[in-house]
Amino acid sequence: MVDSFELSKIAGGILAALLVIFLPKVAIEIAHQSHGHEEIKDGYVLPAPTETEASGSAEGAPAAAFDPAAVVAMLPTAKPENAASTFKKCLGCHTADKAAASKAGPNLWGVLGRERGTRADFTGYSEAMKSKTGAWTYGDLVHFLHKPKEFVPGTKMVFPGISDLADLADVVAYIRTLSDNPEPWPTAAAAPAPAPGAAPAAAAEPK
Ligand code: HEC
Repeated sequence: MVDSFELSKIAGGILAALLVIFLPKVAIEIAHQSHGHEEIKDGYVLPAPTETEASGSAEGAPAAAFDPAAVVAMLPTAKPENAASTFKKCLGCHTADKAAASKAGPNLWGVLGRERGTRADFTGYSEAMKSKTGAWTYGDLVHFLHKPKEFVPGTKMVFPGISDLADLADVVAYIRTLSDNPEPWPTAAAAPAPAPGAAPAAAAEPK
């Protein structure tokens, strides 16, 4: 049998041991905290969230998810006549005249509203593009030309994307003109839903 005196001796011993173990640790951590690395909450040290955890998205990606609908909304006031310098990059691989043959990439005449991966004289489509069914909408073009590999993972189009959103809108507004019957401007109702993976706020919260 252990009497209560023994018990309190044991308890006291444990307490003393804990103090010896934890006091220096706490002191060190408080010292660290003054450098702004860590946060002490209820006596426990919580590691500061890292950049990636805080952004809740893929490495290096900005915290705000890209929303094609925001650029689609810019299209009616975009300036297709200002697209030339950006579109010159496209012309390294694409033709845009109605009668021209495809080059390293498919001819872009009439691409808006065309089924993806179906330009008849172009044989170089990736499986990824051919299996991404559906016709090119304004929102699709905006997304693809901003982040080709995000919209069509595995695309053969080796192009980093147009990062400046005003330039992007100008180019898509210009592509609209590559047609005998340019598509009507997008209406708000036709604007695409945000991309899947556009992180909802809750998922982006650090734990
Ligand atoms: C380095 C060459 C290259 C550059 C530069 C390039 N593309 Fe492409 N593009 C391709 C290839 C190759 C494909 C076919 C991709 C696939 O099948 O995965 C393609 C596909 C496309 C498609 C889909 C066409 C279809 O028939 O479904 C569009 C739209 C497009 N490119 C637009 C552009 C625009 C606009 C630019 C300039 C901002 C551009 N591309 C720059 C090579 C290029």
